Amino acid sequence: MEYEVGRVSGIDLEVLVELFNDAYSNYYIDVQVSPDRLRNLIEREDIHVDNSFVAYEGRRPVGVVFLGVRGRRGYICGMGVRQSRQRRGIGELLMRRALDEAGRLGLDSVQLEVVEANSRAIALYSKLGFVSIRDLGLWERNEPAPWEEPAGPADAVGAALSGARVGALRLACVLPLVDAFNEIRPCWQNEALSLAKLSDRFVGYVAQLSSSAAAYIVFGDSPSGLYIADFAASSRLGAAERQTLCETLLSAVDRGVPRVAARAFNIPLGGYQEAALRARRFDLTLTQQEMVLCLRWR
Ligand SMILES: CC(C)(COP(=O)(O)OP(=O)(O)OC[C@H]1O[C@@H](n2cnc3c(N)ncnc32)[C@H](O)[C@@H]1OP(=O)(O)O)[C@@H](O)C(=O)NCCC(=O)NCCS
Repeated sequence: MEYEVGRVSGIDLEVLVELFNDAYSNYYIDVQVSPDRLRNLIEREDIHVDNSFVAYEGRRPVGVVFLGVRGRRGYICGMGVRQSRQRRGIGELLMRRALDEAGRLGLDSVQLEVVEANSRAIALYSKLGFVSIRDLGLWERNEPAPWEEPAGPADAVGAALSGARVGALRLACVLPLVDAFNEIRPCWQNEALSLAKLSDRFVGYVAQLSSSAAAYIVFGDSPSGLYIADFAASSRLGAAERQTLCETLLSAVDRGVPRVAARAFNIPLGGYQEAALRARRFDLTLTQQEMVLCLRWR
């Protein structure tokens, strides 16, 4: 069977929503979209509809890939094939088309996240040359937050950390810390450019040590609970100090906005951020792999 490929900009939004929801109908988490939600996603994640593709079988759309672009970086914001049309080469056709487009646009790299259990998608991305660079966790807490303050490391640095001052700052003042404090930039949806687009919904707290910013947290409140969008501490500090400062911030959020239910999305596993979430009684609910394909060396 021959499949035609067209641009996402050429398809009606309602048709796109139906296609996306069919492809993601048995997914690991609920990612079903409404037209409004898809429109917001396109805006927030810098999806370029002119550089994103739909595959057609005759006139029927059967698969889609969304390419986001920021500077010289690309991002696969979602790709899927109708349930009844999977395993016919359509996913690979679309991914190759999106990667050709990324090359044509002069992008240096393309990144994505994929649920660790999604072996079909991981096989496809690996076949195309993507490599996994780290694991990210989806976290949930469904019990009251612990009331006690973080203990902190029991040494001189710990004593210094106990003097950390926490305050709310305008998000515009917090966002530069996102790039400054993370050795690897947060995943696409948590990086400063994404958070800036949600500045009406998010609040930022900063912990200061001797009048220098040492850690930040960005969070939002919703009827379904607290949403921790991102947090990190300065890489000038050791892992124990970073953990304690992040616990201090998480605890400040719990005091400021007391909610039983809380979630945190795509926070790196295996380091001080995971330890801080566990200390605040968050449980890991899903692991994602962050993968990247280098298109050219500078
Ligand atoms: C993942 C997905 C897009 C693959 O699309 P597809 O059209 O079925 O895949 P293709 O037929 O083009 O297969 C291309 C490659 O993908 C991998 N693959 C696809 N389906 C697979 C399966 N069932 N088992 C193992 N590998 C599989 C293989 O590497 C395959 O190459 P091969 O044929 O040389 O073995 C499709 O399964 C899908 O839409 N799933 C639901 C949504 C989703 O998971 N999207 C990705 C989110 S990150």
